[in-house]
Amino acid sequence: MSVAVDVRSLVKEFNGFRAVDGVSFKIGRGELFSLLGPNGAGKTTTIKMLSTLLRPTRGDALIEGFSVVKEPGRVRRVIGLAPQDLTADDEMTGWDNVYIQARLYGLNRSDARRRTREVLQWIGLWDAAHRKVATYSGGMRRRLEIAMSLVHEPTVLFLDEPTLGLDVQSRRGLWRHITRLKGEGMTILLTTHYMEEAEALSDRVAIMHRGRIVAIGTPDELKSRVTGDSIYIEPVDPEDLQGILESLESLGLDASIISGRVVVRVERGDSAIPIVARAIGGFRVKSMNIVRPTLEEVFIRLTGEALSEGEEGIDTFKFRRMLRSVRR
Ligand SMILES: Nc1ncnc2c1ncn2[C@@H]1O[C@H](COP(=O)(O)OP(=O)(O)OP(=O)(O)O)[C@@H](O)[C@H]1O
Ligand SMILES: [Mg+2]
Repeated sequence: MSVAVDVRSLVKEFNGFRAVDGVSFKIGRGELFSLLGPNGAGKTTTIKMLSTLLRPTRGDALIEGFSVVKEPGRVRRVIGLAPQDLTADDEMTGWDNVYIQARLYGLNRSDARRRTREVLQWIGLWDAAHRKVATYSGGMRRRLEIAMSLVHEPTVLFLDEPTLGLDVQSRRGLWRHITRLKGEGMTILLTTHYMEEAEALSDRVAIMHRGRIVAIGTPDELKSRVTGDSIYIEPVDPEDLQGILESLESLGLDASIISGRVVVRVERGDSAIPIVARAIGGFRVKSMNIVRPTLEEVFIRLTGEALSEGEEGIDTFKFRRMLRSVRR
């Protein structure tokens, strides 16, 4: 595989706190690679070092052969970045935001106009190009950020939480654009805390937890680390949960109650179903499903924590940053 991104033992400390703790991985040319992890895992800090916005405390990374530490200017010319915190100016039109970006990258007026039109058409924002960004939906804003990151025709693209906060439909719309970029040969590093997203888009995934990569591989490889299926049983009457649990346990099955359902961990769902069905025959059951291993489960088993935990919570650092920006 020809390597586009080579990350070598990156470390970032903030006042002694290690946000990124020795991260290494390689991304092949044309590959879509995801960093999957919960709030505070160190995904954005990693992307900021790779895009030269933050200087590593230790370690280095080569992007298309250029060192982020020694050749940041060269790195910037070959990368595009769509950051987690949106950068487009609300009071300007989509066109102006992209055009200014093109000029900042040194394109002359006519090239900048041509590229602005191309990327806005490509990402499906042409009809809205002359509207103020303030009137855009969340999905349109995310698409605009991607358009801005593409004006100078980078070969490596960093997408930091490209679908954060979007509804399922807009998220899928954005996935189509990302897949299309990959189809055109772009090398893409994406961060997400939606395991479904990592699974749907990525060639390979690195699971990040507290500044470290705890597992790396294709979605299938990672899932094969979790052996066995889960059977979820939902009774008509929640009062039956305990009874169902006990009758399964009396057969020696590994069962537990998780948010209104009984979960049975089995080696193979299809062959265990008849046994489970017989065991709970005396109860009225609303639904019974076999769930194959997901990346979420891989994450839970590796870290002992749920991936989606704290998704709605307040990250104290972000909160402080928000306060600072209000005071300014
Ligand atoms: N400039 C900074 N100063 C101090 N601490 C920071 C700074 N930037 C990030 N951190 C801390 O480093 C850790 C990693 O943050 P980072 O933003 O990289 O996580 P993340 O994986 O991108 O999380 P999220 O899903 O919330 O975007 C967090 O604990 C965060 O509070
Ligand atoms: Mg982040």
